[in-house]
Amino acid sequence: MLKEFQQAVLQGIPSELPAVKEYDKTLNHAPKRKDILSENEKKLAIKNALRYFDKKHHNVLAKEFKQELEDYGRIYMYRFRPNYKITARKISDFPHKSTQAAAIMLMLSNNLDYAIAQHPHELITYGGNGSVFQNWAQYLLTMKYLATMTDEQTLVMYSGHPMGIFPSHKDAPRVIVTNGMVVPNYSKPDDWEKFNALGVSQYGQMTAGSFMYIGPQGIVHGTTITVLNAGRKISKNGEDLTGKLFVTSGLGGMSGAQPKAGNIAGVISVTAEINESAAKKRHEQGWVDVLIYDVNELVSQVKQAKQDMKTLSFAYVGNIVDVWEAFEQENLFVDLGSDQTSLHNPWAGGYYPVGLSFEESNYMMANNPAKFKEYVHKSLIRQTNAINKHTAKGTYFFDYGNAFLLEASRAGADIMHEDGIRFKYNSYVQDIMGPMCFDYGFGPFRWVCTSSKPEDLLLTDQIACDVLEEIMKTSPKEIQQQMADNIQWIKGAQENKLVVGSQARILYADAEGRTKIAEAFNKAVADGRLHAPVVLGRDHHDVSGTDSPYRETSNIYDGSSFTADMAIQNVIGDSFRGATWVSIHNGGGVGWGEVINGGFGMVLDGSDDADRRLKAMLFWDVNNGISRRAWARNDGAMFALKREMKRTPNLQVTFPNLADDSLIDGLF
Ligand SMILES: NC(=O)c1ccc[n+]([C@@H]2O[C@H](COP(=O)([O-])OP(=O)(O)OC[C@H]3O[C@@H](n4cnc5c(N)ncnc54)[C@H](O)[C@@H]3O)[C@@H](O)[C@H]2O)c1
Repeated sequence: MLKEFQQAVLQGIPSELPAVKEYDKTLNHAPKRKDILSENEKKLAIKNALRYFDKKHHNVLAKEFKQELEDYGRIYMYRFRPNYKITARKISDFPHKSTQAAAIMLMLSNNLDYAIAQHPHELITYGGNGSVFQNWAQYLLTMKYLATMTDEQTLVMYSGHPMGIFPSHKDAPRVIVTNGMVVPNYSKPDDWEKFNALGVSQYGQMTAGSFMYIGPQGIVHGTTITVLNAGRKISKNGEDLTGKLFVTSGLGGMSGAQPKAGNIAGVISVTAEINESAAKKRHEQGWVDVLIYDVNELVSQVKQAKQDMKTLSFAYVGNIVDVWEAFEQENLFVDLGSDQTSLHNPWAGGYYPVGLSFEESNYMMANNPAKFKEYVHKSLIRQTNAINKHTAKGTYFFDYGNAFLLEASRAGADIMHEDGIRFKYNSYVQDIMGPMCFDYGFGPFRWVCTSSKPEDLLLTDQIACDVLEEIMKTSPKEIQQQMADNIQWIKGAQENKLVVGSQARILYADAEGRTKIAEAFNKAVADGRLHAPVVLGRDHHDVSGTDSPYRETSNIYDGSSFTADMAIQNVIGDSFRGATWVSIHNGGGVGWGEVINGGFGMVLDGSDDADRRLKAMLFWDVNNGISRRAWARNDGAMFALKREMKRTPNLQVTFPNLADDSLIDGLF
């Protein structure tokens, strides 16, 4: 079995055509994409796809690819899907000459594992359109390159397409990934539809096209922190979330973490999900407690849970608009509210309008996109009206970075603040993540044990916990809550059974925490306590990696939130300071054209080189963003930067002088 797998990887694109594969109806598939190409462009798309194959196969494949384009709006090359199971097997199973490249194979395999990926056969990990590759030929070729490359080469990837392996050197990244990079004027949603259908660009989301997705655990942690801190925001007398109600939507890739996070935070949660199979998947995984199909039944069970003050998570299989409206009619008080439909992708399966079934929507978005758009607009107006009624009674509603406020405003919903500039509600980054975490350098640091052994993960948990407890002894009061939340998280991580796929862990840490944890891991690999290298990484949703005016940088108020210098500087800086792979993406979370985000992966193999690299790179990877946030006059960041400059004598950052508002106001 292992030998067959290794041979198949080394073969790359097979020279003889494999048998046609049946379309597996038991799996979750991407919806049919919009028919956007002209006839000439369709010809071009087919010609583009055929570039991967020997001419002798063109006759057969040209017809097949034309059919795929007609049936699905994209050419996925289903026939070339490998027969072996794609999963994060242990690193030594991947054929390789470079350990770093083998670790990358493990990571990208995890992104395509059936237990992880949202639409595995379309090579989509999460978010409806977050692609690892555009087609199966790219997957096969990339695996072959990774299996055969050395530490003196770098693989260059253009939006899923492996351009090739080029000579470089051992300190250079093994892989450089760009996803969806376009000339700025060509970054409208339909541009993505077109370029992706042509096979020349892809939407890599954040951790999909950068091989850093670790299943919903990554997001459970962020969501737990968000719900806990939202709870602190609404807490009147220091009480916790017991007996309080959180209403939201989405049980997809990231949103599926909400009920689990709700349980950890101790709240009663209701998550609406229109796609029955997505809801069932989370229920089977044990991430949500109760599945309910009838809205009246939901009302009565939620009332009961409130009465019993019982922490419980409900999945409502249906439309979120129906929940908001029913709870309003029934006068059911909602303490916390949000939304995690994929509104970054409103016209192609990210948002399902009320009044249409799941199937009716899927049909209409492909066959009558203009009418579908009208439905979405009407639905967003209804949803906003219902939410407004709840917030008038005291519900705290926050945008969850899914472009809900933005799309509701574009739909003409009553969502603007009376000043006509801001929205009525803040985003979770403006209120919670930005000022409480990012400005202090705390962000979603993560690691994966490439031995794929649970006992290695357990040891890394202990090491990380020890490091954080040591740091906390001398931490200033400003970051004590963050440290305490993360120590509590890591202590409960095993018990909460968060691993799906690779042996991965996430926690929020600042530059000092990340570096000290990484150093300790590298030592444990060196002395054999850990059985194989550890991969470090992070979500792009972090302090420095992402410029996104409606999300990560929404709490930047000096006018620079629409610039992307920070994200670009970050990826360049990471790449020459020792990252094993780097990536930079257009679009992720909030949508194509709305964000530039980047990330890294770093392999800790126990060597002195790894020790040198981790210190150089992690320092920059956090302090770049802190410096920018401090320059934007953010209090927490100015505090964190002053501390860092004291700790690090050869760091000198331009510090802002703060003008008095009264002086400026007096000028006008
Ligand atoms: N969890 C986080 O920390 C986080 C952070 C930032 C942004 N986001 C954003 O949240 C959104 C969701 O991410 P995801 O990965 O879960 O996407 P996803 O597409 O996998 O899941 C969204 C789910 O919402 C469901 N849905 C759509 N319209 C609905 C409706 N009207 N009623 C009920 N269900 C509906 C879909 O069927 C789908 O399963 C994205 O826009 C993402 O960028 C999440």
